[in-house]
Amino acid sequence: MKTTISQVHQFVGQDIKIGVWLANKRSSGKIQFLQLRDGTGFIQGVIVKKAVSEAAWEAAQQLTQESSFYVYGTVQADDRAPSGFELTVNDIEVIHIAEDYPITPKEHGTEFLMDNRHLWLRSSRQNAILRIRNEIIKATYEFFNNEAFVKIDPPILTGSSAEGTTDLFHTQYFDQDAYLSQSGQLYMEAAAMAFGKVFSFGPTFRAEKSKTRRHLIEFWMIEPEMAFMDHEESLQVQERYVSYVVQSVLDNCKQELQTLDRDVTKLGQVTAPFPRITYDDAVQLLLEKGFDDIEWGEDFGAPHETAIAESFDKPVFITNYPKDIKAFYMKPHPDNDDVVLCADLIAPEGYGEIIGGSERIDDLELMKQRYDEHQLTDPAYEWYLQLRQYGSVPHSGFGLGLERTVAWICGIEHVRETIPFPRLLNRLYP
Ligand code: 4AD
Ligand code: MG
Repeated sequence: MKTTISQVHQFVGQDIKIGVWLANKRSSGKIQFLQLRDGTGFIQGVIVKKAVSEAAWEAAQQLTQESSFYVYGTVQADDRAPSGFELTVNDIEVIHIAEDYPITPKEHGTEFLMDNRHLWLRSSRQNAILRIRNEIIKATYEFFNNEAFVKIDPPILTGSSAEGTTDLFHTQYFDQDAYLSQSGQLYMEAAAMAFGKVFSFGPTFRAEKSKTRRHLIEFWMIEPEMAFMDHEESLQVQERYVSYVVQSVLDNCKQELQTLDRDVTKLGQVTAPFPRITYDDAVQLLLEKGFDDIEWGEDFGAPHETAIAESFDKPVFITNYPKDIKAFYMKPHPDNDDVVLCADLIAPEGYGEIIGGSERIDDLELMKQRYDEHQLTDPAYEWYLQLRQYGSVPHSGFGLGLERTVAWICGIEHVRETIPFPRLLNRLYP
């Protein structure tokens, strides 16, 4: 019976065949312990010289790290094995003997591993991280489909900027200037006026010269946009969504979280509702905590976000930021024109901002005024203004950065491991 490592629990006591690679090998003369992987999991295969043919024994001896083969064996339940199962090997059919593999079980430096990212993906740690990423994506589609959102795909090549002009990737679109999308938001607003509740999931690009553990040049964003929803209603969608995603990972990725040594008690606390603190109160809190470098009107840096997050055991919304440090499309607060109806969601444990969202300006005259203030004279912005001309309604939306969310849920240090092939300031290879 041909199967996979993830399915061996169905075949205890039975003979099976699996296509595998050799992750590692130990030998004690008459017995060889093969660490096998097939992409779905890891399992130990035990081959005993006197129990198999000479050809099978020799084939096993020939195997180098990452050699590929079909293994034939009998599944044993084994409480001591991390997976709970072991394979008694009966035969081996070699497919390819690998050359000297550069990544050995010893410690390697990060730059070396990043240069070998195409191979590093095979390790148990990378497998666990990217499976959790996959679970988050799956849970995202489930959540928004359950809540009757329509998935809409905004363009990647655009004629205008959504989030300011300083970090745009410029490219040539035949004889026109074009940019890689920083955010699909403006297009999602058009889609919300056509479908009500929509969400997107796609790559976004920021030509930002930041070299921090939270920044990628190319990252993936989930951007919901909702007609007839105010800022507070949007916050409720956000806290339900993030709780749903965390719970899905806790339920479906137990083995992966264990591989990463993730402290799951902290994740278990992530249930809606989440606390909210205004920007004003956050500044006050920082001053009380001894930060004397912060003044009203300035944006928070990573150390500020971490300090604010420490005061809460769940993700926290920081609301109502000063209008001057936020995007042109955000709706002013009805009681105070200097601040806008927005929130950043700050993850616990020092992971920083994972969501940025706001209620959007729906008044045509006010939006025209913002166009003047921000000098948005390019014809590429005309269509966006028209959304306020034809049945404008209150609407809100947000963007969740996938990689920062993966880093937080996995409890890992840097976003570079949360995406298969990271694009960083100094890295376009592999
Ligand atoms: O706060 P940002 O810039 O918001 C927007 O782009 C809005 N248009 C979203 C919306 O309302 N539809 O980005 C949203 C999120 C951030 O909270 C962060 O998680 C992530 O995207 N992000 C990055 N992740 C990795 N590397 C970067 N350089 C990132 N920049 C933003
Ligand atoms: Mg932001």
